[in-house]
Amino acid sequence: MIRRNQTVISEFLLLGLPIQPENQNLFYVLFLVMYLTTVLGNLLIIILIHLDSHLHTPMYAFLSNLSFSDLCFSSVTVPKLLQNMQSQIPSIPYAGCLTQMYFFLFFGDLESFLLVAMAYDRYVAICFPLHYTSIMSPKLCLSLVVLSWVLTTFHAMLHTLLMARLSFCADNVIPHFFCDMSALLKLACSDTHANELVIFIMGGIILVVPFVLIIVSYAQIVSSILRVPSARGICKAFSTCGSHLSVVSLFYGTVIGLYLCPSANSSTMKETIMAIMYTVVTPMLNPFIYSLRNRDMKGALGQLLCKKKNLFGS
Ligand SMILES: *[C@@H]1O[C@H](CO)[C@@H](O)[C@H](O)[C@H]1NC(C)=O
Repeated sequence: MIRRNQTVISEFLLLGLPIQPENQNLFYVLFLVMYLTTVLGNLLIIILIHLDSHLHTPMYAFLSNLSFSDLCFSSVTVPKLLQNMQSQIPSIPYAGCLTQMYFFLFFGDLESFLLVAMAYDRYVAICFPLHYTSIMSPKLCLSLVVLSWVLTTFHAMLHTLLMARLSFCADNVIPHFFCDMSALLKLACSDTHANELVIFIMGGIILVVPFVLIIVSYAQIVSSILRVPSARGICKAFSTCGSHLSVVSLFYGTVIGLYLCPSANSSTMKETIMAIMYTVVTPMLNPFIYSLRNRDMKGALGQLLCKKKNLFGS
């Protein structure tokens, strides 16, 4: 490849979803509805937790943070997807592409760290119920949240700077609906070995360490329940951990699924479906998983609605 001949690429084309033109409108409406559900559902959770003083506990502070992160994670990709579905030339400027990649990594990791903080919170609540309030102090909660933000900023920044170093030549067509890191690496015409190495190492750390920590805290929870097996204890553990466990399985299920189906043999279709799972479907389901199963959340919603009625009635 002759470097002198390369044109500087100022924008990329996002090919979007592999759907027939006649189905385009149907999918547009579908994604729009799913995105609005995500935004409203997560906003509702944040507002409920903020307003109801019964929900001012560490678990709900983390949950509110998780909802915020879900909301942002979805907003990084879906509005651009919707815009591109309606435009003739689905382009994204170079800077926009790197920005999207940065925030995609940022909120994706943040979610993973928050899930660890939530697992630790459940572990303390079940294994040390008497010391719960002294261990999970507001200071510790805030520190965990700040630590998550710092780590995820560092990680996303590292990948984005490494990506900004690369040069892109003639090919600017991304066969995806957002600026995915691996899709961009395939287009680069400079050496990507450093990027791949960092992705491999950091990806391992960022995914495996949180996953192991979550498994360890659940193992502790299970062993503490088995030590004093009582129907009530098991019920309590299930009711407090059930929703968290479903979110964890949903999140890691898609991520692990993605890693176990490597993109070697042009499985763009599979990759796209998995990407839709974790950018559109998972952030939409999280609020429902929490609020549908949770009595406190339902109570808070009921109170909010009653207050509204009184406000308008009087
Ligand atoms: C996130 O958690 C921190 C620490 O508990 C809390 O102070 C903050 O309000 C939360 N943020 C949101 C958006 O809920």
